[in-house]
Amino acid sequence: MTAEKAGFDHFMLKEIHEQPKAYRDTIGSRIDGSGERVVLGEVKLTPQQIWDIHNIHIVACGTAYHAGLVGKSVIEQLARIPVETDVASEYRYRAPIITPNTLVIVVSQSGETADTLAALREAKRCGARVIAITNVVGSSVSREADDVIVTWAGPEIAVASTKAYTSQLIAFYLLGLHLAQTLGTQDATYIRETIEALQKLPEQVEQILLHAEDIKQYAEQIAEHDDLFFIGRGSDYAVAQEGSLKLKEISYIHSEAYAAGELKHGTLALIEEGIPVIALATQEHLLEKTVSNIKEVKARGAQVFAIALEGNHEIAKSVDLVFEIPRTVALLAPALVVIPLQLLAYYASLARGNDVDKPRNLAKSVTVE
Ligand code: G6P
Repeated sequence: MTAEKAGFDHFMLKEIHEQPKAYRDTIGSRIDGSGERVVLGEVKLTPQQIWDIHNIHIVACGTAYHAGLVGKSVIEQLARIPVETDVASEYRYRAPIITPNTLVIVVSQSGETADTLAALREAKRCGARVIAITNVVGSSVSREADDVIVTWAGPEIAVASTKAYTSQLIAFYLLGLHLAQTLGTQDATYIRETIEALQKLPEQVEQILLHAEDIKQYAEQIAEHDDLFFIGRGSDYAVAQEGSLKLKEISYIHSEAYAAGELKHGTLALIEEGIPVIALATQEHLLEKTVSNIKEVKARGAQVFAIALEGNHEIAKSVDLVFEIPRTVALLAPALVVIPLQLLAYYASLARGNDVDKPRNLAKSVTVE
């Protein structure tokens, strides 16, 4: 067992540290030699079929659903196609409007989740084309989908998903760029710069991991609390939901993720003296608004820990503590900002003496509906 963990105390910590490799392997040879284009040969859709896509549905469960929330903003921004993201257990029962011009993307680490598989079958029954993003070659989802984008994260053992989630984000970046190239929705310079930034991510994750000790110290503080909040805007809100889930799954601390601007419509009532609020602030075009939401919670006594791009002095002035992550383009920030949140969940679980790799009541793969 010790050998399998490669010297790490838990599979989860090992898998967090495997992310630079998972990013590199998932990008792999999917970028051409010039570094100017994504080459996604496994997606067999012809240019005409891509032109004919009217809408996209992303369907998944749990952490994979959270990757799908980021996927929605990635595809909408890059390819300008309307996208909806659904949890698989809701999708089939809401009579979704699926036509042969709907592209359905199912996301599943294991490729065996019952609800996701049922959603895939419903999509196919309605004549939609289905792309699977999965970590398991030969899984049920991969066998039944029309096209398969494999995330090369390697086996994930810890119940709390880390490297599978981030590899799913990489798959969405590649797919979004592939669609944008075909549709001409982004110019060549923008595509080249985004690809350059994508290739820098593995090294930037390594830089973040060097500062794990800072996150550990903060995690030990929040381990004393029973409730906390995550806030963010745009894709920071999508990542906040994943950070909150990760923390709940393994530390059993109750938390809620809120769109920062929505707090004042109800949840602000729960903010009281000393409550921790984790503010994600990587979307700099929304920074002024996020800072004003931070001030709303600070004024009610919250202790705010922010995660921001390095050199952001504005945020440092408004919060109690900042953790800086390396600079990247706004679209790719989710692949970096989630790393400290995974570490936070890990160290909070550890501080509470929980079984990090096998949290109570949860299973790695859920094959019943
Ligand atoms: C279970 C796991 C989660 C996972 C979800 C979906 O609930 O505990 O970590 O996100 O299933 O799994 P999948 O294999 O479809 O990504």
